Amino acid sequence: MEQNIYTKIVYAPTEDDLKNAADLLRRGGLVAIPTETVYGLGVNALLADAAPKVYAAKGRPSDNPLIIHLAASDEAEKYAVTCNAYYKLASAFMPGPLTVILPKRECIPDSVTGGLATVAVRVPSHPIAHRLIELCGFPIAAPSANLSGRPSTTTVEHVIEDMNGRVDMILNGGASDIGLESTIVLPKEDGSLVLLRPGAITVEMLEEEGFTVTLDKAVTERLQEGERPLAPGMKYRHYAPHARVILLSGEREAVQAAMEPYRDRTDVALVCYADDPVADASNARVLGAFDRRDEQARNLFDLLRSFDSSPEITRIYATLPDRKEIGLALFNRMLKAAGYDIEEV
Ligand code: TXA
Ligand code: MG
Repeated sequence: MEQNIYTKIVYAPTEDDLKNAADLLRRGGLVAIPTETVYGLGVNALLADAAPKVYAAKGRPSDNPLIIHLAASDEAEKYAVTCNAYYKLASAFMPGPLTVILPKRECIPDSVTGGLATVAVRVPSHPIAHRLIELCGFPIAAPSANLSGRPSTTTVEHVIEDMNGRVDMILNGGASDIGLESTIVLPKEDGSLVLLRPGAITVEMLEEEGFTVTLDKAVTERLQEGERPLAPGMKYRHYAPHARVILLSGEREAVQAAMEPYRDRTDVALVCYADDPVADASNARVLGAFDRRDEQARNLFDLLRSFDSSPEITRIYATLPDRKEIGLALFNRMLKAAGYDIEEV
């Protein structure tokens, strides 16, 4: 589906640019905005006919609900029914990379929530996103600013690649600090949390605040026919480059040994750590240092996207990350990129 909208790209947004962006949004326009997790494709969350434009621009099924982005956590009660768990989460982690699912209020249109009775709420910490929402005075509904099925966008170049000609404005805010989408949790009546999508607010951090956390099955496993994830978006095939991705699972030395035979092959890429012996191969793509999961998170989507411009690569080998801390989010995104294709070594 080709679209043909004139897209204004703003490389160094000033207060006036943000005022213009807020006006565009107020009138139902589409603005791509930087956040600390990934770039978002924003619309006015209170206009019923704005959300369908987002789905069209992304080529995304319209049953996939959007996150509403607020300037401050205490604004949530205007749009959702809050609870004790929400306030506890807000005081520990907002603004920041955490999304909370709450029962929605009437003012949030069904087009934003895909017809669900709940709404996803997040307070981004990126100064541009924050200031823009403040200037708007209404929440910004935004999915990640990528074409459906592609990895989320973490630089303005990625956004231009996917969204130029499809949105009214793109605001540059530099490379996303975190590089993976926000953690999504659903508070239950007993005050415990279900983790729907792992991110930079880790299970360990949530437990540290006294929460009991259970993982939705879709976080770590392929769902069977007919099974539904609690976050509708988790069912879609995501992040996968054109080449086949195979995740190697085992001791670090064993994974290294399994990669060595593919050294310098032009049809195979090796996703490795900076301190791996294979990192000097001509077909090595470095994810980050082995013990720097934050660095790996920041680089993952850029790396996955880069394979789409290398048609000669038909297979990609990568290490299956462990599930500690933000490792669980890397594990989840890489598992999806690999279509759950794991090889034990
Ligand atoms: O970091 C992020 O969360 C980024 C930035 C832009 O804020 N946004 C993002 O949006 O990743 P998106 O649309 O790509 O992913 C939102 C996820 C989807 O899996 C969707 O199904 C889930 O949130 N979601 C949204 N509303 C929901 C609801 N009411 N109940 C359950 N899941 C919901
Ligand atoms: Mg997305």
